[in-house]
Amino acid sequence: MSNAQSSSQSTRAPVGSQISIIRPDDWHLHVRDNEALKAVVPFTAKQCGRAIIMPNLTPPVTTTEQAGAYQQAILNAVGKNSDFKPLMTLYLTDSTPAKEIKNAVASGIISAVKLYPAGATTNSDAGVTDIKKCYQTLEMMQTLGLPLLVHGEVTSQDIDIFDREKIFIDQRLKTLVKDFPELKVVFEHITTADAADFVTESSPYVAATITAHHLLMNRNDMLVGGIKPHHYCLPVLKRETHRETLVKAAISGNSKFFMGTDSAPHSKHNKETACGCAGMFTAFAAIELYTEAFDKAGALDKLEQFSSLNGPLFYGLDANSDKITLQREKWTVPDSYPFGDDVIIPLRAGKTINWKLV
Ligand code: NCD
Ligand code: ZN
Repeated sequence: MSNAQSSSQSTRAPVGSQISIIRPDDWHLHVRDNEALKAVVPFTAKQCGRAIIMPNLTPPVTTTEQAGAYQQAILNAVGKNSDFKPLMTLYLTDSTPAKEIKNAVASGIISAVKLYPAGATTNSDAGVTDIKKCYQTLEMMQTLGLPLLVHGEVTSQDIDIFDREKIFIDQRLKTLVKDFPELKVVFEHITTADAADFVTESSPYVAATITAHHLLMNRNDMLVGGIKPHHYCLPVLKRETHRETLVKAAISGNSKFFMGTDSAPHSKHNKETACGCAGMFTAFAAIELYTEAFDKAGALDKLEQFSSLNGPLFYGLDANSDKITLQREKWTVPDSYPFGDDVIIPLRAGKTINWKLV
């Protein structure tokens, strides 16, 4: 056991203790559509005030009009008794017109635009093949203050999957932030020390989301003792030293880092197969999983800033006005949850989580 681990264990909150924090927001969430949407949205609505909704549906959400319809479907699934607010995004393509950005900002519906390099992840085929093709659109986003959310991985076949994030920084992101110095950029679901360092050293216009699973697990959790399809996501889990650096960034108090679960539900059938989909389903216990990670690091006092303050600050919004309470209490995660015609296997299925939302 490393020194960091042994010293942090002694500072862990005792069983039964409670903490109250301002209600969190999820700044990176996949809720799919139709029956799947109805199955997963209530979990987030119960925990979070708001969530940034990813646009990688089939077909992708490329217009403000589509985003408006998608937002309504989410609100319908949440029901009238909830104050949950879905914050919508547009899917950037090679041909997204600058005019669409004007419409998006004028509508008040769109909170950001998502850049998927073509082929990088689930439903990214319509993504960007060459960022230079989007420069007029990015120019408009910079002028109007609309953030760009970046899936930061290169996609070339010859680049090792564990290096794709670092090479994206060197080959793409550095140029992007230099060419658009006042464009708000969120480097989504960062997984490497390289990304954490890049964000820390960049201007205040550059921030990052970190998932709970990348704070809690490394690539051994996916590959040792049998392959674990439910621990496969993109960007893929990395080695332990990267996980440690991500924890340091999350608990640092640096306002550039905030919560984004990247909860990405796929049916059991689509995960447990010869060519399984990427994505972990964590929304059912998002804040509990983050709380566990912060507790393990002896940094519960830094949780609220990460989960509930830094995100709104970056997006130029107020923090939520109510609070939630978490109790240190072990509970067993169900083996599955309903998911349309199939089921979904949650992270930690059949195992325990140390914290519970009261
Ligand atoms: C996401 C999905 O399934 O939509 N998958 C994932 O592993 N995170 C897409 C993404 O965010 O890369
Ligand atoms: Zn995602």
